[in-house]
Amino acid sequence: MSVLLLGGSPAASSSGARLLQHIGDKLALQGHRCNRLQVRDLPAEALLHGDFNDPAIVRATALVLDADAIVIATPVYKASYTGILKAFLDLLPQDGLDGKLVLPLATGGSQSHMLVLDYALRPVLASLSARFILPGIYATSAQLQWSPEAGFEADAPIAARIAKGVAQLSAELQALPSYRAAQHQLTTPALAA
Ligand SMILES: Cc1cc2nc3c(=O)[nH]c(=O)nc-3n(C[C@H](O)[C@H](O)[C@H](O)COP(=O)(O)O)c2cc1C
Repeated sequence: MSVLLLGGSPAASSSGARLLQHIGDKLALQGHRCNRLQVRDLPAEALLHGDFNDPAIVRATALVLDADAIVIATPVYKASYTGILKAFLDLLPQDGLDGKLVLPLATGGSQSHMLVLDYALRPVLASLSARFILPGIYATSAQLQWSPEAGFEADAPIAARIAKGVAQLSAELQALPSYRAAQHQLTTPALAA
């Protein structure tokens, strides 16, 4: 199954992007095909002007529409998700997450906004018709470490949440074909006897 790793940090060096990569590596080990998209790599003018027809925006939108699941990561900015992430989500079709699984991630400077995924991002994902939004993973920057020698490491409670999130997403991805077949049967009129 295909997974899009969607990063919403404007920063070139981002703890959330490393968390996203770490989760992508784990999903790839389980046989899922992962594509990557950092919103900061999209043309700023197209994002600011809401240019749906910009070729890079068209390609990025296609990556979202083609994915079975989206792992979406945002830093907390001013008690919410980032503006550039919203600018991109605003360019998706109204049902742009229809039928998709979503695993949301957030990184913050403190625990003060640990509910940000629930009160800010989740309603937006639901309005885009995501089929199933898994419980999110929230970590402070201090709970995530990275060095060239050791690579990515997370404090034990976060590592446990990551393992659970990956296992849950993988199980849901494996169940997706039978869910779609059942949906197809429900929506296809029975043949006349
Ligand atoms: C403009 C700005 C606003 C921020 N606002 C908050 C905030 O409201 N709450 C919080 O916990 N952290 C806040 N932070 C800290 C970031 O969420 C934190 O550093 C996060 O780990 C950055 O993630 P990143 O490394 O993936 O970009 C803010 C940082 C910036 C640059």
